[in-house]
Amino acid sequence: MFRRLPESEEVTVRFSIDGRSVTARAGETVAAALLATGVVSCRTTPVGGQKRAPYCMMGVCFECLVTIDGIGNRQACLVPVSEGMAVRSQHGARAIADEPLAEGAR
Ligand code: FES
Repeated sequence: MFRRLPESEEVTVRFSIDGRSVTARAGETVAAALLATGVVSCRTTPVGGQKRAPYCMMGVCFECLVTIDGIGNRQACLVPVSEGMAVRSQHGARAIADEPLAEGAR
């Protein structure tokens, strides 16, 4: 479906999607990396459980919400992928009771 354009000097970073180790280009967003690795949905809706995937790629639609390093509801299209990052798809409503607040979100 999606594929990366060829580049000569490619710096890669390794991160995980739902526990699966994958590589991405340094500087690309988590959403771009998800699509490039063949992920077709990254969350399900809280009410109907319908699958959703990145759509606008610019922070408007909120279809790309994922859990990144234990913090839920992150917009994957606005977060650059980094080495060792752990990305998890979200299913239904986000659990907030036992998640710490992100630095700067207090
Ligand atoms: S893809 Fe639309 S907000 Fe991220």
